[in-house]
Amino acid sequence: MQIHVLPGPAFPRTATAPGPTLATSMRLRSFAALLRQVWPAPQGECAVDLGAGHGMFATLARRHGFRVTAVDARPRWSAAQALGVAQAQPRPAVDDGIAWVQADVRAFDTTPFAIVPAIGLTYHLPLAAQRDLLVQTAGRPTVIDTEVFDAADPAAIACDRLRPVRLDGLEGALCRETGNYWSAADDQESFWSTHDAFLQMCRDAGRRSVTLIEPTYRSQFGPQRWYVLDAPR
Ligand SMILES: C[S@@+](CC[C@H](N)C(=O)[O-])C[C@H]1O[C@@H](n2cnc3c(N)ncnc32)[C@H](O)[C@@H]1O
Repeated sequence: MQIHVLPGPAFPRTATAPGPTLATSMRLRSFAALLRQVWPAPQGECAVDLGAGHGMFATLARRHGFRVTAVDARPRWSAAQALGVAQAQPRPAVDDGIAWVQADVRAFDTTPFAIVPAIGLTYHLPLAAQRDLLVQTAGRPTVIDTEVFDAADPAAIACDRLRPVRLDGLEGALCRETGNYWSAADDQESFWSTHDAFLQMCRDAGRRSVTLIEPTYRSQFGPQRWYVLDAPR
């Protein structure tokens, strides 16, 4: 499996992780930079945004030139709802040119889609579901933004929701899910792999290449990073 590196935007290092609003805007800038570099001139290819949540990444992909389907187990939610200040509003099935599907990604067939962003999703799934997703999408460009477990990181050590484990030979942690808008659809626990374990999962799934977006950035739980699997060359 080939490993490539792409530069992403470098954000100033701060002593504490940014709050959710700033973090989302930094992640949107990273995704926009990634799209410009990997897909400089999209021709209306179909992309499926898995775990689309509030829909901001799906909207960005749509504006960049993809035809976008957004999938989430929850109805589309907004930042205001996540903060508990607004009620969920029913949305039309096609909204701003994006088709919305309410479904569990584990039961959703991605084969009709050329490009698969899974942004802020995989670390909310158990290990077996992450592996299935990596196998099901192998050969198609897959954009993953995920928490990365680092047992030596003070933020990970301080987090009582993370329990270090070795599962099936893969290092990582089990994370107790919260049930809030940002969390797993219905799992109580998810698997957070280390960086090396994630690369091993990609190898096991038959991925041809992994592109690392450097530098990594931080969430309140430690390192977080973007990967593009089987990027077009
Ligand atoms: C952390 S939020 C990510 C939202 C957005 N993609 C982002 O990165 O800001 C995780 C989203 O994944 C959804 N989700 C979690 N588990 C899911 C599953 N098994 N099937 C479909 N959606 C799921 C949640 O409902 C939530 O909207």
